[in-house]
Amino acid sequence: MMATTFNEIAIFSGNGHPALAEEICTHMGIKLGDCDVFQFSNEEVFVRYLDNVRERDVFIVQPIVSPVNTSLMELFIMIDAARRASAGRITAVVPYYAYGRSDKKDQPRIPITARLVANFIETAGADRLLSMDMHAGQIQGFFNVPVDELTAFPLLADYFGSISQLSPVVVAPDSGRAKMARDLSERIGGDFAIVDKQRTGNNEVAEAMNLVGSVEGRDCLVLDDEILTGGTIAAAVDTARANGARTVRVACVHPVFAARAYELLDHQDAGIDEIIFTDTLPLVRGEFQSIPQKTISIAPLLGDAINRIHSGGSVGALFNK
Ligand code: R5P
Repeated sequence: MMATTFNEIAIFSGNGHPALAEEICTHMGIKLGDCDVFQFSNEEVFVRYLDNVRERDVFIVQPIVSPVNTSLMELFIMIDAARRASAGRITAVVPYYAYGRSDKKDQPRIPITARLVANFIETAGADRLLSMDMHAGQIQGFFNVPVDELTAFPLLADYFGSISQLSPVVVAPDSGRAKMARDLSERIGGDFAIVDKQRTGNNEVAEAMNLVGSVEGRDCLVLDDEILTGGTIAAAVDTARANGARTVRVACVHPVFAARAYELLDHQDAGIDEIIFTDTLPLVRGEFQSIPQKTISIAPLLGDAINRIHSGGSVGALFNK
């Protein structure tokens, strides 16, 4: 390892996902830092570090989880408090970057909120961002500070590759995921297919149209960056089933899972053999009851990335296979 410019690593967690922060620390063999992060009765957020952060390499773990806007304020205020306590360097570790879908002005008179969030993170005083599978590549460009964007898609695909028996098919639930599906199918020695999805309006309703590729008699994995209402995935599963898939598993990196997702996906008739996701977010609205679920932890990946950022090692090398 190369020599680091900063004093030792200090990892702190907001209230977004303390279990993940603990798991990262366990993987790294260090203790999670002590800090108070709470709301007063008027809902204002208060932060106080109980460990020294002066000149240390500070990592603040805070996925933007429900309640989303409180999680954001906690993150901004934790960054500000670390800056004012003379941290040597501050990295915002945001495994799930909410507002990622607001990444372009594709209707009149709408915001680009993903950019606004980036501005706030920088203004608060972050020196770097460490995130995972952000909704669109251009979000990296909303930052003027360095961004390390990790991906968990290979972990999801490798799991599927290890259990599928008949030559597997990776299914993109919309054309935006076509390249990812092709890359992952090559990785596990399978094929890929694409569902042609359409959205009309801002009402979160997705409609699958056609399937490009063949899934007849095959084991399929339909995967996406996030599942919110489940509409996109449900439509893709229906399309794969209608085209003769033998088994259909679904997977996502970010289990946002609104209540509607459980209504759509969590029953035997949904045609789903297993649902697989990572722990970038806690399951705030409960577990799946009627279909098998599997969680793949991204804590080791984040822990390794933090070590490399601290020591000046290559983060990209984590993904060389
Ligand atoms: C959209 O482009 C994303 O990749 C996901 O497909 C979308 O966010 C999933 O949303 P929902 O589960 O509500 O269909």
